[in-house]
Amino acid sequence: MVTLKDLRREIAVIAVLVEEQIPQINSATRCEELRVQLLGRKGKVAQLFKLLGELSPQERPIAGQLLNELKEKVTAALAGRVTVLGSVAERSDFTTEWIDITLPGTYHPYGHFHPLSQVQQKIEEIFLRMGFTVVAGPEIETEYYNFEALNIPVHHPAREEWDSFYIDETHLLRAHTSPVQIRIMEEKKPPLRIICPGRCYRRDNQDATHSPVFHQVEMLWVEKDLSLANLKYIIELFVKEFFGERYQMRFLADFFPFTEPSIQVHIRSPHSTEWLEIMGAGMVDPIVFQKVGYDPEQVTGFAFGLGIERMAMLRYKIDDIRLFFQNDLRFLHQF
Ligand code: DAH
Repeated sequence: MVTLKDLRREIAVIAVLVEEQIPQINSATRCEELRVQLLGRKGKVAQLFKLLGELSPQERPIAGQLLNELKEKVTAALAGRVTVLGSVAERSDFTTEWIDITLPGTYHPYGHFHPLSQVQQKIEEIFLRMGFTVVAGPEIETEYYNFEALNIPVHHPAREEWDSFYIDETHLLRAHTSPVQIRIMEEKKPPLRIICPGRCYRRDNQDATHSPVFHQVEMLWVEKDLSLANLKYIIELFVKEFFGERYQMRFLADFFPFTEPSIQVHIRSPHSTEWLEIMGAGMVDPIVFQKVGYDPEQVTGFAFGLGIERMAMLRYKIDDIRLFFQNDLRFLHQF
């Protein structure tokens, strides 16, 4: 027969064990093992609870209370120890896993715009500030827009200047951005102020200055009473903005079927004696106005076409057009 006294002794043994051993435990796993040993379903404290039935009705509540107190004591002591171990572990993490915040960060290279896109954007910016609108046209064109409407009839020798890629009898990859002039004028009534950047194609063999795919920007201003003086002003302003104040500019007579008169624009850098051609331009030919249904007696206009690659080559002093299309990062990273 178990007595209250026996139980008290057992409880005291466990209490001492708890007081002495728990503070020595140095892992959370060990704490859990001890918890199971003492408080688990088959643990020591559970066994003592089972003995309650053997006590007298008077002793039973006393013993029950003592056991409950023991259970709480064990639970609290183990939980306390686990907390202490946790914060110690954390502190040791701080010392073994420290981060050197003075180390340079990991470098993630940013992408950026291709130099040709940058030049195109720069040109667009200049003209947007002057009230122009940026428009686009198709890269696959009909002969009509690429040639005929621009006053370049079939068998006209000027067609050879725009040696083109034909897709079928009447369709070709546009050889210049000038056809967009026609499309816009067919769509809208004057006045108009547009620029059209875009890709063009010609059957040129690739070398340092030629590429079968290249880019142009077309400019067109149509309004009453425009003159060559207005065109000169616009081009001068553009050259100053794009190349810098100290660039010189000159006009030379030229021929384009869609302008009359036609000019060639040259620029010269302050450090050079050499004149370089930058664009073709001119006053829109009355025949072109007639083709789009404008009355040449009522409106005047001027236009130019320039090569974006050429602009980029002059601006950045690049001597081989092929560099723009090779996607060599050593080249591209410089812009
Ligand atoms: N389309 C011409 C070319 O590709 C360039 C050009 C010349 C465009 C005169 C024009 C212009 O708008 O007026 O060679």
